[in-house]
Formats: sequence, structure tokens, C-alpha cells
Amino acid sequence: MHVIGGTASTALAERVSRELGNAPFAIPFTKRFPDDEMYVRVGGRLEGEDVVVVQSTRTDSDVLELILLEDAVREAGARRTFVVVPYFGYARQDRRFFPGEPVSARTLCRHVELDADAVVTVDLHSSQTLTQFTKPAYEASGIPAIARLLHERPIDVLVSPDKGGVDRVRRMAQLIDKPWFALEKRRIDSEHVELAMPPTLPIPIEGTHATIVDDVISTGGTIVEAAKLLKKRGAVGISAACTHGLFLKDAFERIKAVVADVYSTDTLGNPAEKASVAPDIAQILERLVAA
Ligand code: R5P
Repeated sequence: MHVIGGTASTALAERVSRELGNAPFAIPFTKRFPDDEMYVRVGGRLEGEDVVVVQSTRTDSDVLELILLEDAVREAGARRTFVVVPYFGYARQDRRFFPGEPVSARTLCRHVELDADAVVTVDLHSSQTLTQFTKPAYEASGIPAIARLLHERPIDVLVSPDKGGVDRVRRMAQLIDKPWFALEKRRIDSEHVELAMPPTLPIPIEGTHATIVDDVISTGGTIVEAAKLLKKRGAVGISAACTHGLFLKDAFERIKAVVADVYSTDTLGNPAEKASVAPDIAQILERLVAA
């Protein structure tokens, strides 16, 4: 098996190749033509090989690079192409909220799977999106990676900032054997949220160390408001953990001003990247190759 790391996921792709028993790893050559069109070229002898292409799709340019890489791998004669999209962009627009909108997640699935034999991603905004692929598609979880990291930390309680994250926080709580609860969240706009404590709590919050667990940290608004609320209720130590750390604009600095530690996986390069999902992705790829 060969692993190719797109520009959005080079470091994670290399980690995946190590987890696959030091599978041959290559970084493609990429450049822009004077008219800004993208050019990619993959090296190595890929004919008859199983090839893994790893590329998060945070930006539109990442999406295009992934599609071109898949075609290049097919052209190079690969036997099968497994596409790994650690952070699957556009996943939040997984339905038509207003007339005239696209179902962006669905259309991304269709384009990403075009030259793939199977797709692997990590913590989709909603696992339902997996059903939009027509090829075999699998979702790894960032929870075990974060749990491996949190295991030894002094944490009393885990907190989901919203009800949508209940399954995630519950699973993490089981892995590290801690109580959990979910806040009540109301989104005001794309950068502002309003949060409230739930009517009942599993333990009194005064004097505790609480870790807020979310799938994505984007503008940081959710984590900042959650941390302020927990502090107001008497928590003495607050940390935040996520699978996908986008940390837009000054989000990381704003979060660090209200929490002691921030933990993220490596689906996107960021300053909080402390846990790797490479073993979890490699496990799925090993099963696919063996099939
Ligand atoms: C929302 O459904 C997600 O789980 C995250 O809470 C959200 O994407 C975080 O966004 P932000 O960091 O901009 O508050």
C-alpha cells in the first residue's frame, strides 16, 4: 500500500503511513499556473498498487487538489484508491435549510468519491452524511485519540456545549470513566451563541475541573461562552477538547484567555494538535486492504 499526503494533510498522512508498517509515503508535486489553475503530479510506482490519498477539505483549493490527485492516481494505474478525508469540509450544510440552497455535504460526497474505491473520514458533522456516498464510506472517531490524551489529566466532569454532542461526550465519558452533562445552546448567528446550564447536573460544579468536548472548534464562540458559564458556576479548572480544530482568526487566543488547556486531534494542523487519529484511520484502511 502507498500513502500520498495532499498539502492539507501531509503530516497526518505520514503518520498514517507509519501506522501501516511504514508503507511507502509520498508528497505530490503541486503548483499553480500563471492563470491560477492548479497542477499536481504524483511520483512513485503506483501501477497495480493500493493507494491511499489523504487530504482534508477545509478550503475549496483542498477539494480541487483532492479530486485532481485521485485522477492522477487512477491514471498512474493504481489497483484501488482509498481516499481519506480527515476533516470533511461543507459537512455542516447537510440539508437545505432555506429554499434555493444546495445540500453541500451531499454534493461534496459525490465529487470526493468519483475516483475512489472507498472513502474514510473522521467525525463528520452528522454521521447521516455517510449515507450520501454511493461507494463504501467509513467514519473513524476522534474520541479515542482525545480519550487517550485525557486519561491521565485531572478531570472531574466532561461537558458537551450542546445536545447534538451528547453521544460524543457520553462515549468519551465511558472511555475515561467520568460523569458528563450537556449545556443548552442557542445559536444567535455564525459567530455568537447563548448557553445555559441544564436543569439537573450529575455532580456539583463548584470546585471541579471540567473539560468541554466538541466536534469542531471554528470561531471559538461556543467554547468561550461555555467556559465563561462553567467558571461563573464555580468550576476552577476548564479545558477544551475537539476533533477538528479550525481556530479561525484569533479563536485560539480567545479560547486560551478563558481555558487552561486546549486539545485537538491532527485532522487539521493547528496549535492545539496533541492527539493523533492516525491509528484509528490505519485500522480502517487495514480492514479495507484485507477485504
Ligand atoms: C456545532 O454544531 C458544532 O458542534 C460546534 O459546536 C460548532 O461548529 C463550533 O463553532 P464555533 O467554534 O464557531 O462556536
